[in-house]
Amino acid sequence: MVSTDLHRDIEAVLLTEEQIQRRVAELGAQISKDYEGKELHLIGVLRGAVMFLADLMRSLTIPCSCDFIAISSYGMDTKSTGVVRILKDLDDSVQGRHVLIVEDIVDTGLTLNYILNLIRVRNPASVRVCALLDKPERRIVPVTIHYLGFTIPNQFVVGYGLDYRQQYRNLPYIGVLRPEIYGGG
Ligand code: IMP
Repeated sequence: MVSTDLHRDIEAVLLTEEQIQRRVAELGAQISKDYEGKELHLIGVLRGAVMFLADLMRSLTIPCSCDFIAISSYGMDTKSTGVVRILKDLDDSVQGRHVLIVEDIVDTGLTLNYILNLIRVRNPASVRVCALLDKPERRIVPVTIHYLGFTIPNQFVVGYGLDYRQQYRNLPYIGVLRPEIYGGG
């Protein structure tokens, strides 16, 4: 059960608010430089990437727009089922646009691989990926992450948009959830 004090359910803070904000600003500066003279279309993967996209977008100095896509991944559990389907498609066309997919975390790579295939057939001018976190140990499908915040170990993390059963997204840092919360301890 989720505690009334969310911080109590966190075993360890993996990335502090300051570390995240500093890295997001660096990514924003790099992306702005790489896309100078172009217009960028950010595609946020709901719901986990909302916080990251909001901060990243504010750190961009180039003209940009955003859209969102929702894909089913883990349902209510902490393990990937491998079953991926669209829950909410994009509102706008990506044809001829420079697309940057914004993900919270790349784990097995199944979600990102699915989204990349979906977008590529819609003829964008270019497609790149920006992910806040990477858990390379769990990869099933190889995917290229052009802009990465942090590589993390194979632990289930929450906060800064990442959830466990829709909770903990509002924590300003990224922390490891106590295993007893999800029955893993
Ligand atoms: P993938 O398809 O296995 O790469 O999973 C990607 C999605 O799984 C992410 O967008 C997250 O929503 C979710 N996910 C993977 N690892 C974690 C985690 O440690 N905490 C919370 N959500 C996670």
